[in-house]
Amino acid sequence: MISWPKELTKLLKKAFVQRSSFQRKMSKAFSSFYRDAFNSEAYLTFCTSLYGRSLPQFNLIDSDQWDLFLEELKGIPKRGSDRFLDLGCGMGHNTLEVSKMLKLSGVGVDFSEDAVKKGKKLNINELTDVTFRLGNFHDPFFLQKNEKYKIIFSLDGLYGLKDWEDMLTLLLDRLEVDGKILIFYSSILKEYEEEGPLAKALKSLKRKKNGVNFIFRSYDFTKQEEVLLRRTDKLLEDFKASFKKEGLDGLYKTKKDECKKGLFWHQKKRTKRLFTVIEKVSF
Ligand SMILES: C[S@@+](CC[C@H](N)C(=O)[O-])C[C@H]1O[C@@H](n2cnc3c(N)ncnc32)[C@H](O)[C@@H]1O
Repeated sequence: MISWPKELTKLLKKAFVQRSSFQRKMSKAFSSFYRDAFNSEAYLTFCTSLYGRSLPQFNLIDSDQWDLFLEELKGIPKRGSDRFLDLGCGMGHNTLEVSKMLKLSGVGVDFSEDAVKKGKKLNINELTDVTFRLGNFHDPFFLQKNEKYKIIFSLDGLYGLKDWEDMLTLLLDRLEVDGKILIFYSSILKEYEEEGPLAKALKSLKRKKNGVNFIFRSYDFTKQEEVLLRRTDKLLEDFKASFKKEGLDGLYKTKKDECKKGLFWHQKKRTKRLFTVIEKVSF
């Protein structure tokens, strides 16, 4: 019998505890953002000026990216019984909009308690069949058994994934044939890399025999992201006083830090923003 070295057990336990506590901190940070953003007039006006849509969004999806997303959604053959899944749904504004537009039922998953609460609250007066629920992508069982979807999307929600291949394998398994997975994702590249972890994982899965048959394509929005971050940074200055008036300096700072970090990597040419569309051809 192979004996499991005690030191290794200790190290694994420590890594697990550190990872869980990091996840808890992350989800709390998102929750605090959502508590501030949900009712803020300043944030809503700021987002409307920036993105041209009247909702308090928390992603880097400009109007061109949103239009392309809608076009891709419209191209999917759908029946009334089909369902969609929104990964990292935040406060659910986009989840509900997709449901209304496609007339489909769906599920929004997020690990922030406040995001899920806000999603449920928004949903009360809507005539849509959308369920918001708590779930963490790092939990291999975050999707219920036998859940299947025609559309799976993530609008800047799949951050901090350690194993893209595992996640994609799970999502492809839960995707119906002819369905699509649509992912907006900005990655920080290692010095020698030209593509992010998502493209790398998809290519690796494609090489594997006995896998699900799928095709994929990516739209590169790296340049647009840099432009958006510069606009955001500038616009934040115009809104600084309005945030202060509402006592939401923290919101201003979070967005300011996001710009600073993003622009740092753009300057180094070590970031890539892709909109990736994966179509399941057959099992
Ligand atoms: C940048 S926000 C995007 C929110 C939303 N998709 C939108 O477009 O407004 C990222 C979201 O992903 C969620 N998230 C991040 N890591 C997660 C994880 N491991 N499990 C579940 N949700 C996660 C966060 O709570 C947050 O709501």
